[in-house]
Amino acid sequence: MKILVATGSKYGSTREVGESIAAELSAVGFDVDCADAADVQGVHFYDAFVIGSAVYGGLWRRDASALVSDNAEELRHRDVWLFSVGMAGVKTPGQQTTEATQLASLVGARELRHFDGALDYERLNMGEKAIIRALNPPKGDFRDFAAIRDWSQSVATELRAVAAL
Ligand SMILES: Cc1cc2nc3c(=O)[nH]c(=O)nc-3n(C[C@H](O)[C@H](O)[C@H](O)COP(=O)(O)O)c2cc1C
Repeated sequence: MKILVATGSKYGSTREVGESIAAELSAVGFDVDCADAADVQGVHFYDAFVIGSAVYGGLWRRDASALVSDNAEELRHRDVWLFSVGMAGVKTPGQQTTEATQLASLVGARELRHFDGALDYERLNMGEKAIIRALNPPKGDFRDFAAIRDWSQSVATELRAVAAL
């Protein structure tokens, strides 16, 4: 069973979450490719997908959302897990339904999971710094790699069940 883990990431924190998921799935014996969403050439090589993105302004990174929406027809017939990486403190009030929810229903994803991300203020561009100054969220790395590993294991359990069918 061939699995693609693909991510949309601007500053790398989401890419590292994807790499962690890919490493867990590989360690339990799956054949896994891990890639930036922008580099994915096609989805027909794969039986199952774990696709994630950083959230900016309530939206997924365009490369990741395009990977899902451009291939929705094929993905609807495969097993797909989605995850978002973001910071609760950066959400503006009323930002309830993110694009990720719509993408998950578009492809009938088995699950859409949220993980806390990381914010390194010094690396942001001027516009981003202005937004972050205004919202003043906690800054730092809030990624919980134990929770990410646990989720990867639950995905692996479901994948084994799918593979046995
Ligand atoms: C300008 C800006 C806007 C953001 N908007 C959101 C948002 O709308 N919702 C959210 O949950 N996180 C938001 N975040 C937090 C990022 O998603 C988080 O820092 C993430 O870990 C970044 O991932 P990356 O390092 O892969 O680019 C925002 C961060 C910045 C700098």
